[in-house]
Amino acid sequence: MKLLKNVIRLSTGLSTGLSTGLSTGLSISVKAVAVISLMAVLPQAGYAAGGGAELEHFSPVRTDRALQRGARTFMNYCQGCHTADYQRYSRLAEDIGLSDAEMLENMVFTTDANGEQTKVGSLIGSNMSKEYAKTAFGVAPPNLALVSRSRGVDWLYTYMKSFYLDESRPLGANNTVYPNVGMPHVLADLQGWYKPVYHDDGEGHQVLDGFQQVTAGKLTADEYNSTISDLVSFLDYLGDPNREARHSLGIKVMLFLLLFLALAILLKKEYWKDVPHNN
Ligand code: HEC
Repeated sequence: MKLLKNVIRLSTGLSTGLSTGLSTGLSISVKAVAVISLMAVLPQAGYAAGGGAELEHFSPVRTDRALQRGARTFMNYCQGCHTADYQRYSRLAEDIGLSDAEMLENMVFTTDANGEQTKVGSLIGSNMSKEYAKTAFGVAPPNLALVSRSRGVDWLYTYMKSFYLDESRPLGANNTVYPNVGMPHVLADLQGWYKPVYHDDGEGHQVLDGFQQVTAGKLTADEYNSTISDLVSFLDYLGDPNREARHSLGIKVMLFLLLFLALAILLKKEYWKDVPHNN
């Protein structure tokens, strides 16, 4: 909001500046540069505020099997609180190789206003109301449909692996990527509990070395990593369901243009072959 106000002030300022003379105009353009450079650094500032932990690199997997497993984890463990309601169950089923019936049977756990199972053509919502979530967690769990775009897959992958035991927090969990997060460690039964291990870098900063297991979960560390890999691949899919189709169409368009270029060159040669060259 503040930024918006500044921009509005700037644009009114600019027009008055232009009419009141060069000197005011100049000072305003200094302001303009300041605001523009502020806009340029803001996204980074947002990430910096998300904690200083280093992010692990992650490449999403776009196979039906991986996305099916990721979607199942999402419906079982995330949808209780989060929605993803820019996407419909039926479209998801089609994209990850399931029939509508398989979708309804295995992944639709919510009910509609009449208390009946949510229809397959509905958006992927959550049964928890925003008001209830706000009282329970202090902050409403955000819609996760586009979170892979806003946070990036490296952030998501590292975030899901960075919950740790912290008795001082209301829900007993904290996160090195998102300090003092309002979300509990919902996958604790799978991952178990960990605590972070830090070392002092000699200049008074605590640097994260890694995590040490406190209690075991149902999965081994490798199995947990692959569950998170599928889950984040699914979130990546949700953020851009058309990517595969777009890329393959793009390649076809490039091939067509190349073919067209070859035809155009041949045609040009044909047209010009009878025109005498003067020099
Ligand atoms: C018990 C409710 C609950 C469940 C279940 C839950 N979350 Fe959350 N989640 C929250 C709350 C509350 C926040 C907001 C935290 C904050 O901003 O402090 C949140 C925030 C997030 C964020 C950060 C979004 C952002 O950009 O700030 C991500 C990512 C996320 N959750 C992913 C997941 C995934 C993936 C699952 C399933 C494995 C899941 N959540 C399950 C409550 C939940």
